[in-house]
Amino acid sequence: MKLHHVIQAQQFTQEILAELFRQADRIERLVRNGKKINVLKGKGMISFFYEESTRTRASFEVAMRKLGGEVIFSTENAGEFSSAAKGETLEDTIRVIDSYFPDIIVLRHFESGSAARAAEISQASIINAGDGAGQHPTQALLDLYTIKKEIHHIDGISIAMVGDLANGRTVRSLSYLLSKFSDIKIFFIAPEIVKMKEDIKEHLREHNIWFSEETDLKEVASQVDVIYQTRIQKERFGDRIEDYEEARGIYVIDEEILRLMKRDAIVMHPLPRLDEITLEVDKDPRAAYFRQAQNGLFIRMALLKIILT
Ligand code: CP
Repeated sequence: MKLHHVIQAQQFTQEILAELFRQADRIERLVRNGKKINVLKGKGMISFFYEESTRTRASFEVAMRKLGGEVIFSTENAGEFSSAAKGETLEDTIRVIDSYFPDIIVLRHFESGSAARAAEISQASIINAGDGAGQHPTQALLDLYTIKKEIHHIDGISIAMVGDLANGRTVRSLSYLLSKFSDIKIFFIAPEIVKMKEDIKEHLREHNIWFSEETDLKEVASQVDVIYQTRIQKERFGDRIEDYEEARGIYVIDEEILRLMKRDAIVMHPLPRLDEITLEVDKDPRAAYFRQAQNGLFIRMALLKIILT
């Protein structure tokens, strides 16, 4: 069950997922009881982020420290504050930081495929913390873990993925993970210009996963166990501001949607959220997105432990 690089969601087997979730449950209990877990003493992490982040970077760095390891170097804006600004290639940067003896490099980059390129070069484990509109596998792990904790099973769930599905790396990675389970139903609901891409739909067909592309969120809301809302990602539209304005504000989770949802369904969101979930939704117990973000700490602690011990 040895894991080294974490590049894409497809690489996780049912066996690894079960072990990861078991470890995350155990770690959560220890953390909540204030117990010290020093299993990564002497291990070092470099976190190298070319794109902004709150949750992924903070939770990885906190996870490393809570396990007794060290964050030996961290940059939050590598595009500007590293030699990438002078034109250095990702490959050269990785070759150099890898030579400083980290055990693990957590990398967020704006290009799809960047983490795989880094893994070709690096001796240290590379963790894909988001590669452009490609994948965000550790987000998918915490998303799946949240579904398991909140709904109590994964086989047989119905999920609506809503919003910017073309640019959303989290929904792509989550689709890959869900394709490993049985009797899954996925409803894709997106504005026309940011619909789910063909490669994911083809993957789901190959794995006999039922999916449907819908336009009416109200119609779907009453049928699903999970509504997974996402932000329309302005940063991926470049100068196509009109396209962005056309896509935003079409699908919003508000009290009306909550009234239509099942009593035991949940609302998820990878965050950050803008106006696609209204603030009044936060007080409903079905709003799971802040619990989901916290699960990121436990899952990333479990993942670091599995990779580095
Ligand atoms: N969900 C997520 O990746 O959040 P950050 O961009 O804040 O890391």
